Amino acid sequence: MEFERVAEDADLGEGLLLSVELANKRRVCLVRVNGDVFAIDDRCTHAEYPLSEGSVGLDYELECPLHGAVFDVRDGSVKSPPAEESVRTYEVKIESGGIWVRAD
Ligand code: FES
Repeated sequence: MEFERVAEDADLGEGLLLSVELANKRRVCLVRVNGDVFAIDDRCTHAEYPLSEGSVGLDYELECPLHGAVFDVRDGSVKSPPAEESVRTYEVKIESGGIWVRAD
């Protein structure tokens, strides 16, 4: 599938999270850590809370605010329960001042 332009690069500051919607209506959470942008499903695998409401640290760990599950935004893996399933990640590129996500 093609990349979709989902946000402006300038709109996502360091340590921020931004919820965007893909053309297929899926909500994706964009995160910038140490200058790099990552994209994961904006839905906790524990009880579907929006991960974009959480917070991320310099260690790439994003904490879900509802029950405290922690995910690594680089590969979606679970770092701390109660979530057991990884969260889906998406390929990202920065081009022409935009943040692009590859959906499928
Ligand atoms: S919904 Fe995220 S930890 Fe429960």
